Amino acid sequence: MTEITRPAVSEHLGTTSVPRPRIRRPLVLIPADRVDYLVSTAARAPSVHNTQPWQFVATDYAIELHADRSRRLRLDQGGREMLISCGAALFGLRLAIRELGYLPAVDLLPDLGRPGFLARVALGEKAPLTGLERHMLAAVPHRHTHRGPFSPDPLPAGLLAGLQQDALAECAALALIDQGSAYQQLAALAAAAGRRQALDPIARAEARRWTRKADAPARDGVPAQAFTAAIFAQPGKLAQRDFDLGRGIGLLPHGGPPPAATAVLITRGDSPADWLHAGQAMHRVLIRAASAWVFASLHTQPLEVPAVRALIRSRLALPGQAQMLMQLGRSSSTQPTARRPTSEVLVEPQRRAARMRGKAKAQGPAEVRPIAPDDCGQPAPAWE
Ligand SMILES: Cc1cc2nc3c(=O)[nH]c(=O)nc-3n(C[C@H](O)[C@H](O)[C@H](O)COP(=O)(O)O)c2cc1C
Repeated sequence: MTEITRPAVSEHLGTTSVPRPRIRRPLVLIPADRVDYLVSTAARAPSVHNTQPWQFVATDYAIELHADRSRRLRLDQGGREMLISCGAALFGLRLAIRELGYLPAVDLLPDLGRPGFLARVALGEKAPLTGLERHMLAAVPHRHTHRGPFSPDPLPAGLLAGLQQDALAECAALALIDQGSAYQQLAALAAAAGRRQALDPIARAEARRWTRKADAPARDGVPAQAFTAAIFAQPGKLAQRDFDLGRGIGLLPHGGPPPAATAVLITRGDSPADWLHAGQAMHRVLIRAASAWVFASLHTQPLEVPAVRALIRSRLALPGQAQMLMQLGRSSSTQPTARRPTSEVLVEPQRRAARMRGKAKAQGPAEVRPIAPDDCGQPAPAWE
């Protein structure tokens, strides 16, 4: 089973496990005409129920990522899925910064007195975009959560190993589940969690609140084009979340060959920092896969039931906390879902400040710490 140890290589995307020298660096202005691009690329990230639970604040030298708690699911008590979603947006922001020719300099959880302030991202050193990064950027618009039929083709050779490297580079690991008894156990647990949530009024209310009929103008939530009208048990496919709830509004076809691979994304711990790492790892894996026209169905229902989550860890002998289940397969079609416009998610610094007034104790002027996290649990210390 894969261990969660970071590779001792510097990754172009900005996280690194090698201790960085303490140097003083000049701050780099973020070009005002690229802020929209940076935020809209970040906001293409996957999020639970397409809640898009994030807000961005652009200052001259950094883009801040904040959690929008008003969009947290009621069943997501500790905010784990909200922060995985925001971690995914953080990865999108880092990738978009690469397009500007800079390394992203990430200060994760920069103010522990404000837990909703998730990251401050500045422009770090200059570095040309790599070929892989260019491919990943090109995949952002067509990456999607794939709940419909996959094609029967096998995954490209070496892709899964590459995805495992991606997860490790983000302080997580991707455990591959083979089709034997481990898969059978996982499938049984996922089905049991689905049956349980089918009876849970809160889970049903949340699914109803965040699903959209085909002609709905909403720019959030899961649209009818992206889910099936009923839940069909299929060999080799983990139980899907029921977004239709007997309304018959889902438009996605079902059936087809099963996905080619099943994987569990795990982290060593289960703290907000781990959830942010999990989200970045998930998005990196999904975008790398999408660059080869490989897509994933995502399954977190079984992880929303604490007893089932614990059973998944013990039955599969996972060396960490399960954060996301996914199944991967090829498809030549894509079904992107809508996102809210930048004007809704990019909050003016003054507006944010006004909202925070009275909530948080007065902070000093924002200090940009232009550094990526240099270990897997803690935000890095400030550069001097
Ligand atoms: C933390 C998290 C949990 C998710 N859980 C599920 C799930 O249980 N079932 C599912 O079908 N999709 C799940 N998704 C996928 C979202 O529904 C999807 O990202 C969202 O609708 C936006 O669509 P897109 O990924 O196609 O852009 C999850 C995504 C995230 C980030």
